[in-house]
Amino acid sequence: MNFPVTRPRRLRRSEAIRSLARETRLSTHGFIYPMFVCPGQNVRNPIGSMPGVAQQSVDKFLEECREVEQLGIPGIILFGIPDKKDARGSEAYAAGGAVQRAIEAVRRAKLNLLVMTDVCLCEYTDHGHCGIVENGEVKNDPTLELLAAAAVSHARAGADMVAPSDMMDGRVGAIRKALDAAGFEDIAIISYAAKYCSGFYGPFREAAESAPQFGDRRGYQMDPANAREAIREVELDLAEGADMVMVKPALAYLDIIHRVREMFDVPLGAYNVSGEFAMVKAAAANGWIDEKRIVLEILTGIHRAGASIVLTYHAKDVARWLKDS
Ligand code: PBG
Repeated sequence: MNFPVTRPRRLRRSEAIRSLARETRLSTHGFIYPMFVCPGQNVRNPIGSMPGVAQQSVDKFLEECREVEQLGIPGIILFGIPDKKDARGSEAYAAGGAVQRAIEAVRRAKLNLLVMTDVCLCEYTDHGHCGIVENGEVKNDPTLELLAAAAVSHARAGADMVAPSDMMDGRVGAIRKALDAAGFEDIAIISYAAKYCSGFYGPFREAAESAPQFGDRRGYQMDPANAREAIREVELDLAEGADMVMVKPALAYLDIIHRVREMFDVPLGAYNVSGEFAMVKAAAANGWIDEKRIVLEILTGIHRAGASIVLTYHAKDVARWLKDS
């Protein structure tokens, strides 16, 4: 109708014009780099399905943290691999656990890194579920005090923020109450509010050795078919005291990111998870896609959908690319 008066191509003619018209700009400011710490000394176990990512003992982990800091990535999120798993996931809240020691090491080294911790039991339980199991069922309420103990132990070690990822009902409230009671009223909670029961976590379960030994997580993580329920989950977490919320995974859930962004005025994160990362890496290794171009496009898409914080295994690569350009 408006042709030839309106010609959208006028604003695509040169890089200078495109840059003026650009709505979304990727920067390292919103990146959080996920890392896996394990017991021992001088250990580095690469994860086969996640090229570049490894389980590392605290000493090796600290070396990589220096690199992350130098690249201008503002923060990390930590996952721990315990020495020994048990029914109650004891090492999740043990003072000398891998995560707790890793946090202390970052603090001691005075690195300029925001330290976020994943609060969950699945890496620490022998059955691989995110909560206490009784008679083959994951029990909600008895799990809450263990999650709260894990969060407090992270805060005590020096974490800046805790990120509950278990999807038990009421966990944000239980964690908030426990943090406050322990004198950590200033430690923020970024909850995995809308966390879906996703096949995209596959490679992570190799990295964190956290695959459920029976059944699956459908009884606590969200059904991928649901969007309205995500709003309800976010509402609940905010009412319980979450300071920021997350949607996870990212790529198959861009509509959820967008809806949450439209409805709530809190900082919003998205987790670009292990399976999303592995698919890109595998295709790139085969020469089927242009890795740099696709990663930048994916992260721009997540950002454009409304997430200002992105947890991504691509963070170091992207920080390098953005520095070079
Ligand atoms: C722990 C947890 C998981 C992830 C983050 N925290 C796995 C799961 O819920 O099974 C997945 C992260 C990724 O795939 O990169 N509950």
